[in-house]
Amino acid sequence: MTASNTPPHVRIADIADHVGQEVTLKGWLYNRRGSGKVQFIHTRDGSGFIQCVMGKTDVSEEMFATARSLSQESSIIIRGTVHKEERAPYCGHEIHASAVELVAAASDYPITKKAHGDAFLMDNRHLWLRSRKQHVILRVRATLIKAIRDYLDDHGFLLVDSPLFTPNACEGTSTLFSTPWFDGSEAYLSQSGQLYQEATAMAFGRTYCFGPTFRAEKSKTRRHLNEFWMVEPEAAYMDLDQDMDLIEDFLCSIVGTALAKHGDELESVLERDLTVLKNVQKSFPRIHYDDAVKEIKAIQAETDDPELKQQLEIEWGMDFGSPHETELTKRYDRPIMVYGYPSAVKAFYMKKWEGRPEVSKSVDVLAPEGYGEIVGGGEREDNLDNLMAEIKRHELNMTDFDWYLDLRKYGSVPHAGFGLGIERTVAWMCGVRHLRETIPFARTLDRLRP
Ligand code: 4AD
Ligand code: MG
Repeated sequence: MTASNTPPHVRIADIADHVGQEVTLKGWLYNRRGSGKVQFIHTRDGSGFIQCVMGKTDVSEEMFATARSLSQESSIIIRGTVHKEERAPYCGHEIHASAVELVAAASDYPITKKAHGDAFLMDNRHLWLRSRKQHVILRVRATLIKAIRDYLDDHGFLLVDSPLFTPNACEGTSTLFSTPWFDGSEAYLSQSGQLYQEATAMAFGRTYCFGPTFRAEKSKTRRHLNEFWMVEPEAAYMDLDQDMDLIEDFLCSIVGTALAKHGDELESVLERDLTVLKNVQKSFPRIHYDDAVKEIKAIQAETDDPELKQQLEIEWGMDFGSPHETELTKRYDRPIMVYGYPSAVKAFYMKKWEGRPEVSKSVDVLAPEGYGEIVGGGEREDNLDNLMAEIKRHELNMTDFDWYLDLRKYGSVPHAGFGLGIERTVAWMCGVRHLRETIPFARTLDRLRP
């Protein structure tokens, strides 16, 4: 292939625009099958996957021999004509290949068609990213991130990022990662950008941050990562009801956008049942914690399964565990918003219910099908004395919060916000059980590599 007669380089994602034309594809061999007469070279180029068909009689003997020798994940450049072919795998088009050039051979690629264990795949995450399912999952993630930013940008929220090194805890002191700071003090990796968003909301009215978040949770569950991404909008002059309106509208919008763009591949590649996702429409049931506890008790009374009965044990005041969340959400066909959790199970900054200080103006969104909490938020304590009392009660260091308390000294207003975990949302949308597949390189209790 000399430069002069090389057809234009086209990405597989754009292949439909080139039917009948000769093109050049640059990518990798995903899979190959065929016979001594015809070779089906399944090619991926990062933008998509396509089948390239090469007939023995259409090319030189040498060229056909090259095609037959290609191994999985060898890098290749293919030339051929684009044909519309509904029955072709992947994308409804195929290439009738006239030439293939080997760029670099790959021998003994570790991830093959056979089933591999989770640990093996995670050890090879840097390669596993090339496979089709991972491709869909991470593309859904990218779309969700863009949809989130578009939504917030279009609704008057200004992106004002919070710092990642912080001097204090936001979400409890038990999950802090610390690192020495230059002056001999400890710096902590941010558990949430919220406290800073409260400052930026007082400066800009509506703001959000979107970045990595760190929790030194020593739990090994499928729902927890030690590094995850969270978007945190915050708005001045917003109460809990308005916060729930916002969450609902926001979720319907971002899920709808991702569904419109990826519905087909969610169904065909990930075998995701789209019914639940299509149900993400207003209005989400809003259930007070008091009533949620009653419902869980009723479910517990009804079940014949002794193990589940025990797992569903609950008294007013307890936080929900995943069995509680899973069983409660089974009763609804869309995400639910549980609000008014006991103050004792929530963070120090939560505003208390008027006349019921044991109840907080908090809200969690629980996703259906056992995916659990995807959003946590609520109204913030805007009274200086109450806030100081809570900081003391949580045994936090008052001087660390002097700047935060200033926000209540200088023009305090009711305000609220929420945090949505990207990985939990992607996992739910994609029907992936474990969060580790929803982030490019997961960080968990037992994994810092690759
Ligand atoms: O409920 P959380 O802890 O709330 C906050 O951090 C608030 N400051 C947010 C706010 O109001 N601005 O976390 C919010 C969300 C959870 O609902 C969940 O989706 C996700 O962040 N999340 C995690 N995702 C993965 N791994 C973990 N260890 C997570 N912890 C929380
Ligand atoms: Mg929470």
